[in-house]
Amino acid sequence: AEGRDLAGRHVVVSAGGTREPIDPVRFIGNRSSGMQGYALARTAVARGARVTLVSANSALPDPAGARVVRVGSAEEMRKAVLEAVQGGGPHPGGEADAVVMAAAVADFRPVGYQGSKIKKAAGVEPEPIALAKNPDILAELAARRPAGQVVVGFAAETDDVLANGRDKLARKGCDLLVVNQVGEDLTFGLPDNEAVVLGADGTATEVPRGAKEALAEVVWDLVVARLEPLPLG
Ligand code: C5P
Repeated sequence: AEGRDLAGRHVVVSAGGTREPIDPVRFIGNRSSGMQGYALARTAVARGARVTLVSANSALPDPAGARVVRVGSAEEMRKAVLEAVQGGGPHPGGEADAVVMAAAVADFRPVGYQGSKIKKAAGVEPEPIALAKNPDILAELAARRPAGQVVVGFAAETDDVLANGRDKLARKGCDLLVVNQVGEDLTFGLPDNEAVVLGADGTATEVPRGAKEALAEVVWDLVVARLEPLPLG
């Protein structure tokens, strides 16, 4: 950590995993616990930032000193993140300095939400669940970002981690992409992570296996290095 090098900054972090409703009691979800995003929020608070944490379905306690906005689905997350980065609604202070999309956002959602619980009936085959694409929030953030705002994404890959990461960084158009290897028993719900942080400027920063806090500190180091100086006075 570099002391309070995020003082005077507003950062937005997303965390957790979205749930895409099928009916009032069922959803399509994922294994994200929110730990990495919460670690990013806690470390940013410690470094002096004003932090908005947009949290999807995490059971973790609110990080002290952060403003927490709870959401369920990808569409709700999109609204909350865009509002937070634009400093609209209740936030004074204009555009955020940085946004880190650590949340696992569902790529697809069921079409045709059933307003009442789907029932099983003897001898009746279940209907297939049709899916539609969700908006890509990270790509949208990168496309709309004002000068000086740093946009960071995460990518969980199971193989060809670096090649897929470079590809994704280019496709999403963000400034930094944190790429980590996932598998059944790696990363999800665990306090440790191991990653390489790719920069749009061609840099690659390897972060050895360690606490999610340690990876969070490296992410903020790389963000701070890309921020424009605060106006004097
Ligand atoms: O495309 P993929 O899901 O692998 O990309 C992961 C990154 O993109 C994460 O930073 C995630 O938060 C973000 N994402 C998003 N909106 C989506 C899907 C992913 O912002 N619909």
